[in-house]
Amino acid sequence: MNEIIVETRNLTKVFSVGESRISAVNGIDLTIGRGEFVSIMGPSGSGKTTLLNLLGGLDYPSSGSILFEGQDMGKLKERDLDNLRLRRMGFIFQTFNLMPIFTALENVTLPMEIAGVPRDERLAKAKSLLTQLGLSERIYHRPHQLSAGENQRVAIARALANSPSLLLADEPTGNLDSRTTEEIAGLLKQLNSEYNIAIALVTHDVQVGQVASRTLHMVDGRLQQT
Ligand SMILES: Nc1ncnc2c1ncn2[C@@H]1O[C@H](COP(=O)(O)OP(=O)(O)OP(=O)(O)O)[C@@H](O)[C@H]1O
Ligand SMILES: [Mg+2]
Repeated sequence: MNEIIVETRNLTKVFSVGESRISAVNGIDLTIGRGEFVSIMGPSGSGKTTLLNLLGGLDYPSSGSILFEGQDMGKLKERDLDNLRLRRMGFIFQTFNLMPIFTALENVTLPMEIAGVPRDERLAKAKSLLTQLGLSERIYHRPHQLSAGENQRVAIARALANSPSLLLADEPTGNLDSRTTEEIAGLLKQLNSEYNIAIALVTHDVQVGQVASRTLHMVDGRLQQT
């Protein structure tokens, strides 16, 4: 494999609720290389979201470790972890999670503003990303003035704003009709090859999963490679 972006070692997440203990992620060893496109499929409750949240530093493992571009995420101070997330990772969710009062342009410039990118530079980058995603006529629209597919494209532009090395997508087509689903899946594939960005994509849709170069199946917190 080429350069490793993220590598987990015996990654485990146990949730305790009342008397029950759930091993949502159960001893996973996973390696994703630069520019690799991996899809993760599996039944509801098998631990896909938990795994993605751990990879993205949105949750902490119970045991095991995650190396991101060679750095042990568990050893980072919170501020450094925030920085890693901001600059090296992009997130896409089923529900888009855009800021409702911001325009498309403002939603895309926000992560760059937080990262301290100068105003002119971030405006130019946001406009170019939105144009690339076919939204040049929509940059001043707010989320409620956009279709679901357009909102997801804004969210993808936002995820790419700080040129991450890994895109984490949790059922990004879950709220879209079949035509828009196909469009977004194709777009992810295109961005994957164009920017050589690694993608970890969780999906229930077999056709969406097929755009990836490797498909992993998750069952009861474990990965089965096919
Ligand atoms: N915060 C939490 N507290 C307790 N249990 C949790 C928590 N988050 C997830 N779980 C449990 O962990 C298991 C895995 O959940 P997860 O959300 O990762 O599944 P999933 O594969 O993403 O499912 P879906 O396809 O429905 O989104 C489930 O049994 C769930 O009930
Ligand atoms: Mg899930």
